[in-house]
Amino acid sequence: MMPKVPAFPPNLDFTGHSILVTGANSGLGFASALHYLQLKASTLYLLVRSLEKGEQAKKELLADPLVQKNNPKADIHIYQVDLASLDSLRSFSKKFFNEVQALNVAVLNAGVGYFNYNPTIDKMESTFQVNYLSNAILTSYLVPILKQSALTTGRPSHLTIVSSMMQNRTSFGENTIPQSESVFDWFNDPKNMGVSRYGQSKILATAYANEAASRVDPAQVVVNSMCPGFVKTGFDVNSPGFIKYPMKILRSLLARSTEEGARAIVLATITGPEGSGKFFTDGAVTPPASFLLTSEGQKFQKRMWDETQERLRAVDLNLPVLEISN
Ligand SMILES: NC(=O)c1ccc[n+]([C@@H]2O[C@H](COP(=O)([O-])OP(=O)(O)OC[C@H]3O[C@@H](n4cnc5c(N)ncnc54)[C@H](OP(=O)(O)O)[C@@H]3O)[C@@H](O)[C@H]2O)c1
Repeated sequence: MMPKVPAFPPNLDFTGHSILVTGANSGLGFASALHYLQLKASTLYLLVRSLEKGEQAKKELLADPLVQKNNPKADIHIYQVDLASLDSLRSFSKKFFNEVQALNVAVLNAGVGYFNYNPTIDKMESTFQVNYLSNAILTSYLVPILKQSALTTGRPSHLTIVSSMMQNRTSFGENTIPQSESVFDWFNDPKNMGVSRYGQSKILATAYANEAASRVDPAQVVVNSMCPGFVKTGFDVNSPGFIKYPMKILRSLLARSTEEGARAIVLATITGPEGSGKFFTDGAVTPPASFLLTSEGQKFQKRMWDETQERLRAVDLNLPVLEISN
């Protein structure tokens, strides 16, 4: 049995906050957006792959009785971005930074789980690009505006990557990717694709959040990652039938509601500076994949960070470099 996610602290109130959520049209992203609105967030940026689904989500969010009662003037904006496309991310960032001057919370929630090699338009493996690389790119784009907003409010902004405890269930370790091989090439080589890919992508996501956190002043931006637990969503949509259907039954019997899973997400975005660089599960700090706690894991984390920064320059020369002095 999973422990219960704690209730929100009394008087939690996001009045005046601008909040961005990726994958906001369904599942945990939608439920997180709903929590923030019910808790009086002033402005919400819903990042979605399909504008039509985004409009539908906006309609449903604004129709929620508690939102109508607590937050009838909520301002919801929809941005289209396909996290499986570098071009789409570049276009999103141009539009977003032309239009938006302040951001207090970013929840990088969108994610996928593929079992077969499914290349993106950029010729990368989809789970790697969506769950890892796009979150790395969004982190670089968003930390400066989060920092700027912290200077205005006088309290830290937050960036949380929705990762997963499945990072503990893979055999990924120091010998998985030979030292001589690039991390990106290894992940994008079809022969390395397998059932562990989802967990592997989540190890990378948590390692990236940890490394980013070490380069950003936590009094300005708290950067962390978290697992929402086993949640009743349609997450298995890309799984083969022999996994999808049993998972549907398991989720209906054992999983928690999206309300509760999303509560764990919101709780990870309200910690003080001490919550930066931590991995949260069920609303509490928990250890990440045990590999990341070893000295070999720490070396891998830096190697992955360095290689990612090089690759990011090729994505967009203007992408800010995260360093504590910036
Ligand atoms: N459910 C669980 O038990 C569980 C457990 C641990 C962690 N998580 C994590 O929680 C997060 C949310 O998952 P969920 O359970 O809420 O599943 P979900 O309902 O399937 O939500 C996934 C969201 O990601 C979006 N997305 C997928 N690919 C995208 C792309 N290329 N570009 C932009 N958006 C994209 C989806 O948009 P579309 O609707 O357009 O596809 C959807 O909004 C994921 O990161 C997942 O790994 C879930």
